[in-house]
Amino acid sequence: MNRVYFVGAGPGDPDLITLRGAALLGGCQAVFTFAPLGETFAGLIGDRPVYDPYDFDFDDLLTRLNALLEAGDVVFLQPGDMTFFSPFQALIEALGDKVEVVPGIGSANAASALLKKTLNLSGVCTRTILVSSRVLEAVPGAPALKDLAKPGTTLLIYMNHYPLTELVSRLRSGYGRNEPIALAHRIGLPGQRMFLGTLDDIVNQTSDCALFDKKGRADLTLIIVGETLTAKPDRSWWDQRRLNVRRHRS
Ligand SMILES: C[S@@+](CC[C@H](N)C(=O)[O-])C[C@H]1O[C@@H](n2cnc3c(N)ncnc32)[C@H](O)[C@@H]1O
Repeated sequence: MNRVYFVGAGPGDPDLITLRGAALLGGCQAVFTFAPLGETFAGLIGDRPVYDPYDFDFDDLLTRLNALLEAGDVVFLQPGDMTFFSPFQALIEALGDKVEVVPGIGSANAASALLKKTLNLSGVCTRTILVSSRVLEAVPGAPALKDLAKPGTTLLIYMNHYPLTELVSRLRSGYGRNEPIALAHRIGLPGQRMFLGTLDDIVNQTSDCALFDKKGRADLTLIIVGETLTAKPDRSWWDQRRLNVRRHRS
């Protein structure tokens, strides 16, 4: 049976797609994706027809996909992968067993690699919370950002919609202190920038570049906040862990 493959593209660099994702892209007869992935994956997409899913309403999209499936496999190339904040869940349900999902490298994984930092350093961070400021605000009764921003928490903020000064002030009122913050912008894409600073200096650090539009939106920026970004790991932790591992093995 021909299938619609929802392939995690990774952050944007075609070197960061999985081998399986690349093979499916090479074997399909049509691709659905949107900027900037259409451009960065042009080499792997070749001369296959490329459709922007946002050109179709839901029913038209289903009709088009079912028609294309008559002729062969279809790949939906999606940013990161579908684990967090994927817009395609309803489509996946509607297509049922005609769908297969292929994992990829999320922007959180790619940002962690660029920073060379685990995002929940033991002894420093007791929890990591993934949020979208936009979604939080839209859901009545959801906790506010300042209620989640507490010492010991690493926050990953997707789809920020606050101007940076306002975001910083909300985070400061939650953490109750200065806190390390990283802005990972266009990871794996032309124009990649990584800013690592603190709530005190991040606004100045970014004043020379247009990370955020006038409404504060920064669609291709992942924001990471928390002590784990700069804390010095305790070297003795390794020896304790090693002893535990050896004890379990014997
Ligand atoms: C709709 S969500 C999709 C997230 C995706 N499923 C993932 O795990 O990377 C879009 C948000 O992911 C983050 N994002 C996606 N791709 C990115 C990239 N290349 N660089 C930085 N942030 C990215 C941004 O916060 C953006 O607003």
